Parts: sequence; C-alpha cells; structure tokens
Amino acid sequence: MSMYQLPEHSLLRKKQFLYGVATASFQIEGAADSRLPCIWDTFCATAGKIKDGSDGKTACDHLRLWRDDLDLIESLGVDAYRLSLSWPRLIQLDGELNPAGLQFYIDLLDELKARNIKSFVTLYHWDLPQHLEDKGGWLNRDTAYKFADYVEKVSTALGDRVYSYATLNEPFCSSFLGYEAGIHAPGLTGRGNGRKSAHHLLLAHGLGLQVLRRTAPHSLNGLVLNFTPCYPHTDSPADKAVAEQADQYYNQWYLQPVMTGQYPEYFNRLTDEEKPVIEAGDMALISQPLDFLGVNFYTRHVYTANADHEFAVVEIKDAEKTDIGWEIYPQAFYDLLTSMHQKYKLPPIYITENGAAGADKLENGQVQDEQRQRYYQLHLNALHQAVEAGVNVQGYFAWSLMDNFEWAEGYSKRFGIVYVDYNTQQRTIKQSGHAYRQLLQSRV
Ligand code: FCB
Repeated sequence: MSMYQLPEHSLLRKKQFLYGVATASFQIEGAADSRLPCIWDTFCATAGKIKDGSDGKTACDHLRLWRDDLDLIESLGVDAYRLSLSWPRLIQLDGELNPAGLQFYIDLLDELKARNIKSFVTLYHWDLPQHLEDKGGWLNRDTAYKFADYVEKVSTALGDRVYSYATLNEPFCSSFLGYEAGIHAPGLTGRGNGRKSAHHLLLAHGLGLQVLRRTAPHSLNGLVLNFTPCYPHTDSPADKAVAEQADQYYNQWYLQPVMTGQYPEYFNRLTDEEKPVIEAGDMALISQPLDFLGVNFYTRHVYTANADHEFAVVEIKDAEKTDIGWEIYPQAFYDLLTSMHQKYKLPPIYITENGAAGADKLENGQVQDEQRQRYYQLHLNALHQAVEAGVNVQGYFAWSLMDNFEWAEGYSKRFGIVYVDYNTQQRTIKQSGHAYRQLLQSRV
C-alpha cells in the first residue's frame, strides 16, 4: 500500500483535519540520570515486572537526539506532535523547577513552533516522581495538589509555547493497571486502591485544568482517556449485563464523572472500604468543561457471564490480532465514538492515540509492516464513518512516532511508524509511515 485510501469527500482528506504523531517522556527520553527517579524506574528495577527485563535509562536516547527526531517528525509532514512532559525532569525534590529540565522543553517547543508544528503536551503520562509515591502516590489525596503545583509552575514558565495541554494520559492505566491489577508501576493491587487512586487522578485533572485556565488561557486544554469497548459474547441477558458492567468499570468510570459529575452506577456496588472519599466540590472540579477530549483507541474486549470471574474476557480465537495480542476490530472504534456522541454532550474530539504493535524487521533498509498499514487503513475509515455519523473529530495522532519502551512489555513490542534500532539508535521510516506521509501530503 502506498497511501491510505479514504473517500474523496472525507473530512479526513482535508487540510483542516489535523494529523500528528505521539510519544511519551519515559518511553523515549532516556537520560534518566539527569532527572529525579520515578515510579517506572523503581518498577523496572523490580525483578519480573518488565517482560524483557529492560528499563527507561536510555530508551530512544531522545534527550540527545531530539533535534534529529524533530527533523524526522517534520519529514512526515504532520501538523502536530503529541509529547509528554516528565514531571521528575521538571521538578526538583524541593518542589521548585529544575532549570535544565525546563530548558530542554523550552528548546524543543521553540523548535516545534519554528517548524510550524503544533505542540500537544500531556502533563502526566505515568512517570510519577518516586518521592511522591513514597508518600502514597495516587492513593494520597495530596498528590493531586502536588500535581496542580507542578502544572502551575511549568505552564507559567512555558508561557504561550504550548498549543494544547492535556492534564493526564489515560487515568485508567495509572489507576487500574498501576494500583488495582499490579501490571504497571507502582504495582499495587486491590479494588480499593484502584478506585481511590482513580478519584485522586480525576481530582488532579480538575485542579490542573483550573490552573491552566489561568496560566494558559489561549491553549486548548483537555484530558486524554483510553477506551476498550465492551461487547457481550452472546445475546444472552447475562452476557449483556456483564459487558455493560465492565464498560462502567473500565471505561465510563473515567468519562462519566468528567461529563456529568457522577460516577457510574457501579459505584454503589463498592464496599465502604473500597469507595474513595469524595469531598465537597470534587465532582464539580472533575466535571469542568473541556476544550477537547482526547480519545485513545486500540482494541475491544468481549465478555461472558462466569461464576468465578466478575468480568470474564473471551478470547476470539479466529480473529486477527496484532503482535501484542490485541484483536483488530475497527467497528469498535466507530461504535465507541458514535455511542459517546449519543450519550454525552461531547467537546471536540481528538484521537490522541491509535496504532498497532508489529514484529517488525528491518530488511534492506526497509520495514514492510503490512499488518500495521492495514490497521491504519481500517481505523482511518472507521473514523471517517464516525465523522459522517456526526461525531465532531478534529484530529488524529498515530501511536507512535517511533518504536519505544512499551511499559511492562519492554522493548519487545514495536508500535512506531518509524523503526528504531536500539543498538545504533538509527531511525528508519516504516512503510506505514511512508503511507501516512502520503495521505497527509495529498490533503486538499
Ligand atoms: C497506551 C499508552 C501509550 C502506549 C500505547 C500502546 O495505553 O498511552 O503510552 O503504551 O498504549
């Protein structure tokens, strides 16, 4: 495939539709010794947590190679670059700004502006400073106020350099994977931990957004959530009920409070010990209007009623999967966007992540990532259909610019549209990346 195909009249073929590529600080930056330790450093140093035993000490060596990486981004012809700021690089132990860390982001943002590439900046993409985790991390309500203080200092210092701020990336992953399922840093478990950390993350979002309204009134300020739509295995009422509950628990838990100021009904099923403490004013802070909602989508889950498991996921055996085992099911992307649009009065939507992991090989200077190209082709078309159905989507970011540290999977899973050789740090645009550039260039 030389380029992704979309209907002639599609909004996605117009120049006004924004395209970008996305990364996150811990996944690409490296240079771990020039910042404070974070929860992911600790998690990586714990035996058995990362599949290939790797860590983020060097990653894509982006702190050294960032100018070349900006050349690469520019060469893809994108309108925007989504990156995250490293809290442990920007803030010192005493809570003050770290001048060297700040200068790095100032230089990067200035260079993006000089190249006419819009910056979509996420303030928290999971790298919580370890000293805050030592005080309870997201289980401690005070961390939300620490976040607001960090946002205040950083957004004031960056001035008008940032086109768009997102407070958090995927609070589901931080709270559920990090504090409830133990799969991500800091590796805690238990429903109470998951639900309490989720509330403090949402509170941090609300406090952070309130700060941004003052310090960055001209930026597009919002939040990025991820969704794994839930489908029943059969039409039986029992399967349908499980899928509905799972949707509340994994997806709506983060969207509904932001849109309506209320947790889903499932909240009432929590025991008193599991329930977060909700103080007066919290839900109003959490449900402040957003300038945009970032939606991250990769796959769906299928659920069945099972006496031993509240949310039993069924593996769809004959479905096509990506290298990370996620089913390719673009219909869920369409269903997700249209159902959200029906349910809530949504702000403008940006697809802030979408992409596929592949067992890519660099051969004769090329990476023929056929499945990833198909994935993008299918998902861009599902997105087009959702736009046709009336969903207000303004932009799309491919995850990811380049292969990087894929959290608990280490470097074994490659999501880039650019291949990274970790021995040489050489970058090679994959076929999917060339096809992306062609689509972007062909817009009218
Ligand atoms: C998302 C994360 C991102 C990346 C992709 C594959 O959940 O936001 O950092 O790991 O998944």
